[in-house]
This record gives sequence, structure tokens and C-alpha cells, in this order.
Amino acid sequence: MNDYLETAIEAARRGGEVLESWRSRFTVSEKSPANLVTEADLASQNAIHSLIQERFPDHAFLGEEDLNESGGESGYRWVIDPLDGTSNYVHGFPYYAVSIALQKDNELIVGVVFDPNRDEMFAAVKGQGARLNGQPIAPSSVGTLRESMTVASLPIAAKPDNPAIERFLLIMQHAQTVQRTGSAALNLVYVACGRIEAFWSTSLKPWDVAAGALIVVEASGRVSTIQGSEINIEEPDILTTNGTGIHDELVALFTS
Ligand code: IPD
Ligand code: CA
Ligand code: CA
Repeated sequence: MNDYLETAIEAARRGGEVLESWRSRFTVSEKSPANLVTEADLASQNAIHSLIQERFPDHAFLGEEDLNESGGESGYRWVIDPLDGTSNYVHGFPYYAVSIALQKDNELIVGVVFDPNRDEMFAAVKGQGARLNGQPIAPSSVGTLRESMTVASLPIAAKPDNPAIERFLLIMQHAQTVQRTGSAALNLVYVACGRIEAFWSTSLKPWDVAAGALIVVEASGRVSTIQGSEINIEEPDILTTNGTGIHDELVALFTS
């Protein structure tokens, strides 16, 4: 297992270096309106993919930038977001990350999220807890929504009547604050290490959540759908909290 963790950490650092090396020379294109991509996204994914594939040639890969490779019979699959927070990256807003997870037979077993701006490496192995730069982490102990900093990811270019916008406005009436930050992967690990109390979204992809969801669980936070049922990373729906009564408060509001 440590080989997998070490490889994930090394690959995430390599991806981070590539992102930083592209900082002053990338060009931006739109995959769809307001959905940005740069050369840095692809270059980071290529660096991560080649490093991992060289070590584990029979593993499968799923990455945001058109990477979908079935491996051999090993049952292992790497799920990669080479740059989570592309809009932030493009604007020089230093809140973006590399996210890499490993699944075995569809179960998450390793997750790393690397923030190159703060040199913060969040990492977890199933059953072994979660760490930030090698030190164990835990969520906050804030116990009520009223005292909580919460974060939501909204769909790109959402219209005012989108249910995600309605949920954002609803929780604004109950939480201390609701933020939108632009990196789902960092939001998840910020729940895990106690910087925010809750994060939710209903518009995410497997590569946005795979690593961060494992890191939250291993840090003893709680992960469910916004209805309170078990998550499936192939589905876009996730609610993560510090594991206090805030979780049930949010589920009750989302299902009211
Ligand atoms: C995006 C970020 C953002 C979320 C979007 C994602 P990207 O990822 O995680 O927080 O709201 O849904 O697409 O495109 O920057 O990798
Ligand atoms: Ca993403
Ligand atoms: Ca991305």
C-alpha cells in the first residue's frame, strides 16, 4: 500500500510543478461556456499519468482531460484531476489543487490532494487515517450550523432558478457563512482538517471527489449524499461535514 501512496504523492508533486511551470505562459480555451481548460491541465495530467503508468502498467486510469484507459485484470484504477480549480488558476487566484485517488475493485484505497501554492499535501490510505504534510488531521468540533463556515460548489453558469442556487440561498439563512471557492478537492480536504465545517455539491465528477472523499472519511468526518445516503463517486451528489450534528441539520434542510 505504501508504494501506491508514495507514487500518488510523487505524481501529485510532479503535477503541481507542471502547473507552476505553465503559470506565465498558458492560453485558455472554453470546453463549454465558462468551463475553462489550459495547456497546464493536459501537461499536468500527462506528467501524472506517465509517472504512475511506468510503475503500474496493468492499472486503469480515469482523468478529466479525456483519459479513460482500461488496465489489465488488476482491479486497480487511478482517478485523476490534474488541475481542480482551473478558473482560479487562470485568474491567479491561489486556490487550486492536483487530486489523485486509487481504487481497488471500485473501493477508494488511496487519496492525495496537493495544493502547490501552500505546499500542502493532504493524503489518506484506507484504514490508516488522514494526514497533512505527514501530520494527522481531524475535522473541527463546531457543533451547530449557526456557527459554521460552509462551502458549496455550484454548477457552471447556473441559472437563478437552479436548485443548487436555491439550496445555497437556503443555507445562507442558517449557517454563519456559505462560500463558493472554485476547487471542490480543496473544499473536501478543508473539511477534513477543520478549516471549514461543511461542503456540498450536486454537480461534481468522479475526479473532483475521489481523493477528497477518502481523506474526509479517514479524518473521521462524515460523507453522504445531500439526502443522507451512501455516496457513489460516479454520481454528482456529495455532502461532507465535520461529523457533528451539522450533518443532520444540513440533510434536514436539503430534504425539507
Ligand atoms: C471544478 C471545481 C469547482 C466545481 C466545478 C468543477 P475544474 O473543477 O472543482 O469547484 O464547482 O464543478 O468542475 O473544472 O476546475 O477541474
Ligand atoms: Ca475538477
Ligand atoms: Ca480539472
